[in-house]
Amino acid sequence: MNINKVVVIGSGTMGSGIAAHLCNANIPVVLLDLKTEIADKAKERILKSKPPLLFDKKKINSLTTGNITDNFNNVDDADWIIEAVVERIDIKHSIYEKIFKKRKKDSIVSSNTSTIPLKILSEKLQDKDKKDFCITHFFNPVRYMGLLEIVRDKLNNQEKINSLKDFCEKKLGKGVIICGDTPGFLGNRIGVYAMQVAMTEAIKMNLSVEEADAVFGRPMGIPKTGVFALYDLIGIDLMQDVLASFKKELSKEDEFQKVASDIPIIKKLVETGYTGRKGKGGFYRINKTKDKKILEALDLKKHEYSPAKKIDLNIDKVNILELINRNDKYGKYALSVISKIILYSSSLISQITDEYNDIDEALRLGFNWSMGPFEMLESIGLQNFFSKVNDIDKNKFLKNLKDKKVTNFYDQRQKYTKIETLGKIKKTVIKLEKNDSAEIFRFKDFNIVEFKTKANALDYNSMDALKKATDKPLIIINESMQFSAGVNLNYVMEFIKKNDLRSVEKFIKHFQETCKHLKYCKNPVISAPSGLALGGGEEVLLQSNYVVTHTNIVMGLVETIVGLVPAGGGCKELLWRWTQTNEAKSDPDYAPLKVFDIIGYAKTATSPQESKPLLFLDKNHEVIINRNELLPAARSLLKKKVEMSPPKECKFKLSGQNVRKKMHKILEELYNNKKILDHGMIVGKELAYVLSGGDTALDKEIDEDQMYKLELNSFMKLIETKKTQERISHTLKTGKPLIN
Ligand code: NAI
Repeated sequence: MNINKVVVIGSGTMGSGIAAHLCNANIPVVLLDLKTEIADKAKERILKSKPPLLFDKKKINSLTTGNITDNFNNVDDADWIIEAVVERIDIKHSIYEKIFKKRKKDSIVSSNTSTIPLKILSEKLQDKDKKDFCITHFFNPVRYMGLLEIVRDKLNNQEKINSLKDFCEKKLGKGVIICGDTPGFLGNRIGVYAMQVAMTEAIKMNLSVEEADAVFGRPMGIPKTGVFALYDLIGIDLMQDVLASFKKELSKEDEFQKVASDIPIIKKLVETGYTGRKGKGGFYRINKTKDKKILEALDLKKHEYSPAKKIDLNIDKVNILELINRNDKYGKYALSVISKIILYSSSLISQITDEYNDIDEALRLGFNWSMGPFEMLESIGLQNFFSKVNDIDKNKFLKNLKDKKVTNFYDQRQKYTKIETLGKIKKTVIKLEKNDSAEIFRFKDFNIVEFKTKANALDYNSMDALKKATDKPLIIINESMQFSAGVNLNYVMEFIKKNDLRSVEKFIKHFQETCKHLKYCKNPVISAPSGLALGGGEEVLLQSNYVVTHTNIVMGLVETIVGLVPAGGGCKELLWRWTQTNEAKSDPDYAPLKVFDIIGYAKTATSPQESKPLLFLDKNHEVIINRNELLPAARSLLKKKVEMSPPKECKFKLSGQNVRKKMHKILEELYNNKKILDHGMIVGKELAYVLSGGDTALDKEIDEDQMYKLELNSFMKLIETKKTQERISHTLKTGKPLIN
């Protein structure tokens, strides 16, 4: 089955997201709704979406809009017809009736339903049509969420289902898990259950919403929205509908029923318009006063809002064992929630899937958990779990492990795909070395470095690992959400607090030396990023010999936001790339001014397509839509031995004072227009000093080491200022920049 044309019916949140992602894959797509205007509005929404649903705005050219009356004939020659209309069975049935009258024989038809069983959706279809009908359950936002559940049953043409899976994996980059026709499939069945457990246990154990989110969040490897903030994000009313559907579809005896009953506070919130972020607020709300926005949290007992409290559990990394062993209310809450999730998930083995691994993967890809319930169980340790939790005997899966006295049961990750992913090969590699920030693996004839810190922020140890790993060809890759959010500013601020500037300088020098080493060492270095590659993370990419990048990437040198300049070779390397352009050949100030603009404004790119024109990516890169393919693609480059020999050292000819004057003029204009303030001016001038080459002139040549030195000096000058320190502390505390 070849898929060269797709029709999506229903242009709401999901239909438009699916259509946009098909555009990303350059597949012609027709988006239909009741009226063409509705589909046109969806097209506008796609173009304005943030984070962007399209890799590049030009991708929209693959999209045509229309309505289901005048433009339904598009179904005639479509290879795949996706229904994504409102969750109403009568409407869906009437659409299928129309589709199956017109569609071509070898097409496939699917519904994006999240709650209606396949057997009900297809109950009015003839058997010959049932063969070609399934559920394709995408997650929102479609570009960014990795999971696609394909729900099929015995009647389906399995070959067609497999070829749809193949298409969605290769062309759309999804992690495709084939599921049976059970309520909520895999992701929502466990994911929504987990949310309900987290909420009901928090209420039972008297935890505040902030406390519950602080536990059922980052420390458990779950996104920081935890449970209450996630409820607000999804919409409290929508969650009510989802629960109602679970209550209806699941048997009375199902454990889910125990946590699905109405919670009075939820009813009250919805009735009063507090439906979450889209409404007046929810468990959290932003209270806007004249000049301030204050985040407030709801007191679950008093039903009143007060300023949200920051709960610090002092946990830097996901460590389930440490969390449940805590001797405080947070430890008890964590144990109670995690054990219930593990018990429920394992009780469903063979009922909803035969493969426990698929449940973990569904939670990872569909809910952005860093580990699923079974991996949590493995990290707690089976015997330890059995000693803490009763009720094992009714649970076939766990009882079997207990009876057989198994200690380690977990085999490989990502069983849903044939691709040799990082998760899979990690089981077979030699672990060479590990420090607090990174791990080095040896696989056959190459090494892998995986960063291991929160958001993979980089410190001295991360650099150490990189340097040590270059005794073989090196691939820098990781399984977590972000490639690297940049230098670990917490680490830097610890030195600042102790007035230990020498250690800051030592770290930056080590960073520079490591990046230079990556660039020039005899073995090739390939970075394979996904997610954030900002600041120091981007500097690692810029100085790798090759980049194999996922399409979901955010690249940029954003140091000026915190009052710094890139000092790990970012200024130098980007400047070098721009000096290689044709425009730079005739104008020596072209490259410095360009880079001054890019770094000064802390410009970011949200895809490889956007990164290329900024030269965050040069010709030595490859773009991969399926994240699982990053490692195989990097390996195949090593095998092919593509040109990756160390580049020639770069020498710069810069006009110094001349171009600096031009940069200062730009800064003055910004200052006069109040676009930047006093400190912005200071940061801008430091950046100007670095990018102009300092005290140089066009007839002099400066080498990379001199450029590194300029970066370091400016960095050190800026980090010593109170204003920069204030900006860094503010960003660390709030996650947002401080404008002053
Ligand atoms: P939505 O309410 O945002 O959009 C539904 C669209 O269908 C609207 O544009 C509406 O005008 C259109 N529509 C209604 N009747 C129609 C008809 N007869 N012909 C053509 N268009 C018609 O809904 P949303 O959220 O996009 O959901 C669509 C489907 O995806 C539902 O089945 C839902 O359960 C499912 N889903 C939703 C997710 C979400 O996060 N919103 C996640 C996964 C699945």
